[in-house]
Amino acid sequence: MTPGSLSSTSGTATASLAVRAGGGWLELPAPDGRALRFPAAWLRDNCPCEQCLDPVTGQRLLDLAGIPAPAITAAAVAAGPGEDRVVVTYAPDGHQSAFAWSWLAGHALDGTVPPDPRTEDAKELWQAADLGGLPSLPAAGWAAYTGDPAARAAILAAVLGYGVAVLHEVPAEPGTVLAVAETLGYVRETNYGRLFDVRVEPSPDNLAFTSREILPHTDNPYRDPVPTIQLLHCLRDAASGGDTLLVDGFAAAALLREEDPAAFAVLTATPWPFAYTDAGTELRACQPLIGTDPRGRIREVRFNGRSMQPLRGPAEQVAAAYDAYLAWARLLRRPELAVRTRLAPGDCLIFDNTRILHARTAFAIATAAGETASRSAPGDAGGRHLQGCYADLDGLASTLAVLCRSL
Ligand code: FE2
Repeated sequence: MTPGSLSSTSGTATASLAVRAGGGWLELPAPDGRALRFPAAWLRDNCPCEQCLDPVTGQRLLDLAGIPAPAITAAAVAAGPGEDRVVVTYAPDGHQSAFAWSWLAGHALDGTVPPDPRTEDAKELWQAADLGGLPSLPAAGWAAYTGDPAARAAILAAVLGYGVAVLHEVPAEPGTVLAVAETLGYVRETNYGRLFDVRVEPSPDNLAFTSREILPHTDNPYRDPVPTIQLLHCLRDAASGGDTLLVDGFAAAALLREEDPAAFAVLTATPWPFAYTDAGTELRACQPLIGTDPRGRIREVRFNGRSMQPLRGPAEQVAAAYDAYLAWARLLRRPELAVRTRLAPGDCLIFDNTRILHARTAFAIATAAGETASRSAPGDAGGRHLQGCYADLDGLASTLAVLCRSL
C-alpha cells in the first residue's frame, strides 16, 4: 500500500489505537476487549501489501534487514474490503501496511505459542491398552484408502496423531509398498535402496535380515536426519512367530520423565553415537536418545541397541548416561507399553519412525516344500517376507493438508 491511500477512518476505533515508545509499538483493542501490542518491526515484516508480499506465491518480497529500522508514525482504521483494516504508517519511508483486524487478533502476541506439530503437545499418547491389538489400530482397507479422500485423510491424520496406522488388503505383490508410500509423500531412498526386503538372507548385513528376535528400536539412528516414516508391507507371514510389537516412544519417554526425571534429563542432554557400516556404506550420527524442542517437549526418540557406538566423555558422566540408558531400555520393554500384533499378507503398517519403536519376535525358518514352492525371487528361502521403505512426515502432513482443502 502506498502512502496517502487511506480511504476512510472510524473515529471511535481510531481513538483507541495508540502508538507507544516513540513509534516502537502499536496498541489496539481486540474484538474481545483484550489489549493487543505489536512491535513495529514485526508489523513491518508482516506487511501484506503487494510490494512486500508476492500475491501469486504468498512469499515475502520485503527484505527487512535491507531497509532502515521502521518506526510507527501513525495508525488509523480504514473501511473494508470485507472488514475494517488497521492502517499503520512507518518512518522513515512513509510506507503503509493495512492489516485486517481479525488477522491481528488471530496473531495476538499474548504469550500463546502454537504447538510444534512434531512434539508430544500435538500427539495422542498411548499405551497398549489404549489401542488394543491390530484390529483396534487406526485402519482402513486399501480400496477405501485409495478411493475415498476422507478415508485417506483419516489414516494420514492417525499417523500424525497416534504415530501408526495400518492398511489391510494391500495387494501382496512385491514393490507395492512403494505405491503406498507415494500416496502419502515421497519415498526416501537409502543405502538399502528404494525399498528393502525383510526376510532371512543367507549372508545378512543387518540382523533384521535373520530370523532372530529384534528388540524395540527405531530405524536408521545412524542417519541424520533419520527417515521419519517407515512402511512395512507383509507379503508372507511366518508359519510361527514373527509377531510385530509397537511402542509409543513419546508415551514411554513421558513415563520416564515422570518416574525418573534425572534419567530423562541425562538422555535429552547426551548425544549418543550410532554407526552402520558395510562394504559400501559408512553412516554415522550422534544425537540424544530422547530429543526435545527448545521448550523441552519430547520431539524425537532414537533407539537401536544394534548400532549404538561406545559413548565417550568424562567417566562419571558416561556412567550416569549408562544408568539413564538402561532405565530407558528397561522401561521400553514393559509389556503394558507394547501393542502386539501379527501382520497378515496384505497388511501395510505406516508409522512415525521418530516416535514409534518397532520390534519382532523370533520366527521359524521355513523348510516346508509348500513354502519353497511359493518363492518370489531367486534365492528366496520362503517364509516370512515383508517389504519396507521410508518416507517423511513433512510430505505426509502436506498431503493431508491439501486433501483437507477439498473435504
Ligand atoms: Fe526395523
